[in-house]
Amino acid sequence: MIRIRKMRRTELGRARLLAHAIFPRSVVKIDAGDTVLLAEAGKMPVGFVHIKNERGRLLLCGMGVAASMRGQGIGTLLMEKAMELMAASGKPVYLKVKAMNKAVNLYARYGFFVMKFGRAHVLVKKPNS
Ligand SMILES: CC(C)(COP(=O)(O)OP(=O)(O)OC[C@H]1O[C@@H](n2cnc3c(N)ncnc32)[C@H](O)[C@@H]1OP(=O)(O)O)[C@@H](O)C(=O)NCCC(=O)NCCS
Repeated sequence: MIRIRKMRRTELGRARLLAHAIFPRSVVKIDAGDTVLLAEAGKMPVGFVHIKNERGRLLLCGMGVAASMRGQGIGTLLMEKAMELMAASGKPVYLKVKAMNKAVNLYARYGFFVMKFGRAHVLVKKPNS
């Protein structure tokens, strides 16, 4: 069974290790004040979503599920919980993702739409949309 819960501050190292395992070529910078939701199978962390609380807005920095666990709905569970948390804040939510990433389909289901800034594609969600 998969459980989604908020990471405790003492687990920052654990979340960074998981993020590094899923994104070995990128530096995932998780700071102490960030919100991280963890997906756990038993005691094993298998996915995360990372949210930065910036002035006046929330930035969904990224999410990932361990390669062997993808396609089973864990990303959807993480997104649902993240959207619930973010909607409660009433702040606009942004996320950045490469336009060709398959995850765009997942984000689009939650009301994000693509805005282009030069060559960058940013997904934006207005509060309560
Ligand atoms: C994107 C990701 C978090 C989705 O997690 P998941 O547990 O596989 O998601 P779900 O099983 O709930 O599937 C939801 C959607 O995720 C996407 N998805 C599914 N498998 C995927 C895969 N192997 N790679 C990328 N996206 C995938 C699809 O859009 C899927 O919707 P669909 O079934 O209508 O096509 C996960 O595939 C992943 O970690 N990918 C690599 C990292 C990444 O690209 N992160 C997002 C950008 S920061």
